[in-house]
Amino acid sequence: MSDTILETDGLTKEFMGFVAVGDVSLKIRRGSIHGLIGPNGAGKTTCFNLLTKFLQPTRGTIRYDGRDITGMKPAEVARLGLVRSFQISAVFPHLSVLENVRVALQRQRGGSFDFWRSESLLKQYDDRAMALLADVGLSGYEHLAAGELPYGRKRALEIATTLAMEPQMMLLDEPTAGMTHEDVDRIVALVRRVAVGRTVLLVEHNLKVVSGLCDTITVLTRGRILAEGDYQAVAKNPEVVAAYLGTEAHTVTEGVPV
Ligand SMILES: Nc1ncnc2c1ncn2[C@@H]1O[C@H](COP(=O)(O)OP(=O)(O)O)[C@@H](O)[C@H]1O
Ligand SMILES: [Mg+2]
Repeated sequence: MSDTILETDGLTKEFMGFVAVGDVSLKIRRGSIHGLIGPNGAGKTTCFNLLTKFLQPTRGTIRYDGRDITGMKPAEVARLGLVRSFQISAVFPHLSVLENVRVALQRQRGGSFDFWRSESLLKQYDDRAMALLADVGLSGYEHLAAGELPYGRKRALEIATTLAMEPQMMLLDEPTAGMTHEDVDRIVALVRRVAVGRTVLLVEHNLKVVSGLCDTITVLTRGRILAEGDYQAVAKNPEVVAAYLGTEAHTVTEGVPV
């Protein structure tokens, strides 16, 4: 088994000639938490969409767990264990917290949404769903409508529905965006917990979160890799500091214990 779980070579995505992601060659170590950071518009989300096959690259290749997945469909790569955390909009607000995880489990087993199954059949997923909810700290919330969860808990539910896919590698796009301090701490602990035995690729704006969680960091600007290394190395890189100037320079240089 190779030490590298995911590798891209010359990954490029152009939108009408505009290079959103240009010549990105990434190597992600199996079992690591890898951060992808960079100013707004750097191409982080586009990268995620390329890796999970929601977008087809203009050029370049993607290898995951020993195979070329460049031509695959999103559902195929998800079945191989490369799963992107669902967006909040994909949480069904009128279903209970428990039902949301059940639907995700059912989708994992059945390969499609299937609302026509009887209640009794759905119940077979309850034990597993309850265990997943416990994993993400949502025990006690199972009968609440998902739409009524506080914001931070919604992200935890999103992670639970992602875990239902039994990911070998999880991609999280800004899991702490818009959160209070308390929620941020809870999500950091949660990401650390769910990263055990898997690989995590994390896009995150909060550099404290990045420094606390990530083993390796890739810095993107204007679609290209600017720097790579552990947090201490990239935070000291003058080009990285310059790229963040006017936006997050204070966080890079002062806010984080390096
Ligand atoms: N579907 C699209 N069509 C045209 N331009 C896009 C599209 N998606 C993203 N972009 C552009 O690509 C660049 C990178 O966007 P994005 O990947 O969302 O950046 P980030 O997630 O780092 O903020 C931005 O300039 C954005 O406007
Ligand atoms: Mg983004």
